[in-house]
Amino acid sequence: MVPIADPPLCSSSLSSLQTLGSDGVRITMESALTARDRVGVQDFVLLENHTSEAAFIENLRKRFKENLIYTYIGSVLVSVNPYKDLEIYTKNHMERYRGINFYEVSPHIYAVSDNSYRSMRTERRDQCILISGESGAGKTEASKKILQYYAVTCPASDQVETVKDRLLQSNPVLEAFGNAKTLRNDNSSRFGKYMDIQFDFKGAPVGGHILNYLLEKSRVVHQNHGERNFHIFYQLIEGGEEDLLRRLGLERNPQQYQYLVKGNCPKVSSINDRSDWKVVRKALSVIGFSEDEVEELLNIIASVLHLGNIQYGGEDSGNAYITTDTQIKYLARLLGVDGLVLKEALTHKKIIAKGEELKSPLNLEQASSARDALSKAVYGRTFTWLVNKINVSLAYKNASVIGLLDIYGFEVFQHNSFEQFCINYCNEKLQQLFIELTLKSEQDEYEAEGITWEPVQYFNNKIICDLVEEKFKGIISILDEECLRPGDASDITFLEKLENTVGGHAHLTTHKLTDGKTRKVMGREEFRLLHYAGEVNYNVNGFLDKNNDLLFRNLKEVMCMSDNKILTQCFDRAELKDSRRPETAATQFKTSLAKLMEILMSKEPSYVRCIKPNDAKQAGRFDEVLIRHQVKYLGLMENLRVRRAGFAYRRHYETFLQRYKSLCPETWPSWQGKLADGVSTLVKHLGYKPEEYKLGRSKIFIRFPKTLFATEDALETRKHSLGERESHVSHAVVVQAWWKGILACRRARRRREAANTIRRFIKGFIYRHNERCPENEYFLDYVRYSFLMKLRRNLPKTVLDKSWPTPPTALIEASERLRKLYMQNMVWGYCKRINPEWKHQLEQKMVASEIFKNKKDNYPQSVPKLFVGTRLNGEEINPKVLQSLGSEKMKYAVPVTKYDRKGYKARPRQLLLTSNSAVIVEEAKLKQRIDYAALKGISVSSLSDGVFVLHVPTEDKKQKGDVVLQSDHIIETLTKVAICADKVNSININQGSITFTMGQGREGIIDFTSGSELLVAKAKNGHLSVVSRNNGGI
Ligand SMILES: Nc1ncnc2c1ncn2[C@@H]1O[C@H](COP(=O)(O)OP(=O)(O)O)[C@@H](O)[C@H]1O
Ligand SMILES: [Mg+2]
Repeated sequence: MVPIADPPLCSSSLSSLQTLGSDGVRITMESALTARDRVGVQDFVLLENHTSEAAFIENLRKRFKENLIYTYIGSVLVSVNPYKDLEIYTKNHMERYRGINFYEVSPHIYAVSDNSYRSMRTERRDQCILISGESGAGKTEASKKILQYYAVTCPASDQVETVKDRLLQSNPVLEAFGNAKTLRNDNSSRFGKYMDIQFDFKGAPVGGHILNYLLEKSRVVHQNHGERNFHIFYQLIEGGEEDLLRRLGLERNPQQYQYLVKGNCPKVSSINDRSDWKVVRKALSVIGFSEDEVEELLNIIASVLHLGNIQYGGEDSGNAYITTDTQIKYLARLLGVDGLVLKEALTHKKIIAKGEELKSPLNLEQASSARDALSKAVYGRTFTWLVNKINVSLAYKNASVIGLLDIYGFEVFQHNSFEQFCINYCNEKLQQLFIELTLKSEQDEYEAEGITWEPVQYFNNKIICDLVEEKFKGIISILDEECLRPGDASDITFLEKLENTVGGHAHLTTHKLTDGKTRKVMGREEFRLLHYAGEVNYNVNGFLDKNNDLLFRNLKEVMCMSDNKILTQCFDRAELKDSRRPETAATQFKTSLAKLMEILMSKEPSYVRCIKPNDAKQAGRFDEVLIRHQVKYLGLMENLRVRRAGFAYRRHYETFLQRYKSLCPETWPSWQGKLADGVSTLVKHLGYKPEEYKLGRSKIFIRFPKTLFATEDALETRKHSLGERESHVSHAVVVQAWWKGILACRRARRRREAANTIRRFIKGFIYRHNERCPENEYFLDYVRYSFLMKLRRNLPKTVLDKSWPTPPTALIEASERLRKLYMQNMVWGYCKRINPEWKHQLEQKMVASEIFKNKKDNYPQSVPKLFVGTRLNGEEINPKVLQSLGSEKMKYAVPVTKYDRKGYKARPRQLLLTSNSAVIVEEAKLKQRIDYAALKGISVSSLSDGVFVLHVPTEDKKQKGDVVLQSDHIIETLTKVAICADKVNSININQGSITFTMGQGREGIIDFTSGSELLVAKAKNGHLSVVSRNNGGI
């Protein structure tokens, strides 16, 4: 069944429009003020008559009728168990409460969860959520809902997924071993639980830690009528596989086991043991239990059942003996102990007297209580081991924390024993903490807002806490004293001691101490405590035994010898050597409670107060008597009084002004000045009296709900009168708000993307030297892309341009290949563009390079100068010469200087190259013709002069000897000669000097030196001296 929307949405309400979410279903709590007649108020502080319990309960009833199970008292959440599935825990609901102000949405357990989470994240303060209420009120369900909320809404990563699973799966395991069906609750937690959920700096749940309190061990051996033992026993018997049961020596019938028949209630309609077994088995493996560990754990569970079936017979002497040997056989195997030793330990008691060990036989009664003590100890310690094991699997360090406390609420039965005493003491402590912290947070808020604190009258229950826990004088101390005292201490002597020591205390009385009316309702073995929540009579029967919680020494010894790995951790041999008495149950509980208080005090608390609407676990039934009882025991009226001591309602100026601005002409449609001034103007216009409100630094405080309701009613009327125009305006406001929202979303998205890119880039930079991996792929791709783009812009323009951008490491090889390809391509294109003349030119240049490159000093200057076809044209050569050459084709002509062979006189000549020969011409005369075939070689110096020698064979009579010439274009001239004469390989480049033949066997020598001036002249030694300029002509 779907509950009605908590606060009905008024379509014309401005405030509802503001907070209308994208799904159109978010409904403001503020607007629901108008529906208060039908659904009551969502915050008890808004009750006009806040001191009236009847008004309080009436408000709860109205809301319960409408399936509104949650109501606030300020920031405390009151929750009434609906006993039916309400569809208010879907993922959509979770989303709706994410990041929302407390009062903007209707009360919900998710609002509390979210509020704590956000405080933890923003204020960096550890939080705790205290869930209390009586058995069956919905505490455990509430804590599960909170855990689910975090599991679904918090950020996650792969590792976090496993932790989330473990956190969630710890529940079914703990419930199997620690919960049982009671008269009040089919799944009643029989232990107190405090669980830390740990969050990392990103807000993801990363670990957890559980503290357990006071498991109700007595349930292992005894259950009241209509109740069951812990779930795990039934789950194992109903769900365990055939061969597992065979191994454990169990039958598939709970009726066979003494420990399971006491309550006469093996089956419960709301519980499916078989499917629960599967859930538990799966959960155990999620948490990280190995198959061996599960086996050992089940061995222990089965052992407890076998222990229960051990029966005793009595000898004549009264000593007990065991009549069920098969049980011992199973136990020996399952517990990994010696059967005979176990048998002996179950029937004898070992005493150490004056250093000597004495064994005394037990009678029937003693033997069965020793057996039960062993069962309780084994089960209890295994449970603690289980919690520790879960803690190991959830362990995480350095985290922010939200603690969840799911602990038994105040208990008052017809007969109250040691357990109720402990539980109620625990609640007394929690109440103390609650009042202190609520008052403190109220005081802090007033201080922060600059409003004078008005002292609140409240009942300080320290006096009761002291009565229970004070050293030497407190009830626990007195009980311990009786437990330790030698002699005939008994429950009754304990009662007497109480009467003697604290008999005069205002909060304690006994049958003997009290009078008339009270005495009638008290048993002789009872003492009565006046708790903050009311009176409770405790029967002292069993107090000493339960507090001692003793296990005979020889039973402990047997357990210490066990092969079972879990039991060896539970029963430590060191314990046997320790001669001190173990701490009593009450003192242990007191110490662990003190630690719990410390933990809670160090955190910022939130409260969930659970109420059970009826004892029949029925939906829709609101049992007023029962509820009144709980309202009282939970101290809700006290809570409300503290919260309402000063002001009923407080809101930030902005929220208040936004909602009510239409009620005052100065603030409507908008207020431009300071918010505080706006609120002040508004409330003055509304006629608030000075005693009705106060203006703090950022909030307005309104003392009475009626002031607020009058304002609300005025707003309702005003809305109608604003009429059509208003509706247009408001629609425009909505459109505007939507559009603004869209723009903001886009901006946020862009910013998010930018931040992501930067983050990816930085990460990539850090990992840039690694192999390609998800962390660096974006960065590496980017580097590649940007290199290629840069290359595209900076490619060399000509074949001679050797520049090339430096590639990143990853691209060195690719870059090199690209460079080669590009060069090839450019060269190819270049070649394609070359014309025949240019080709000819280049061919000649190639020849010149082959001959002179790095050999003759003036070669480099010749490179950029083009070779010409000829240096003398037709007109410059004498026609007679041309005539005498006849048909010989002229290929090149150049003016040269010839040096006489004798006196080295310089004479101007022309050198003509024809297809067959080189011809030296003087004016019209053909002075010398050298056939290419006869040209022996050409000599030239390595310096920058232009002198060269054409060598001719000496035996050739026609020739007058070698010719010494000088050309101003030596490189060009000799290249042409070499090509025409096909003498590329016959050009000798000489250092220092050249020897040449003058004719008739005489030799001449040309010495080459370099200097500042070109000088060719005969030297004193008769050689031709050539001084070439350092950068001589070509
Ligand atoms: N919010 C809820 N919605 C529906 N049913 C609930 C809710 N809270 C409790 N119940 C019902 O009440 C039963 C007892 O609740 P539980 O949390 O175990 O009580 P407690 O831990 O206070 O003893 C649950 O098994 C469930 O059936
Ligand atoms: Mg519970």
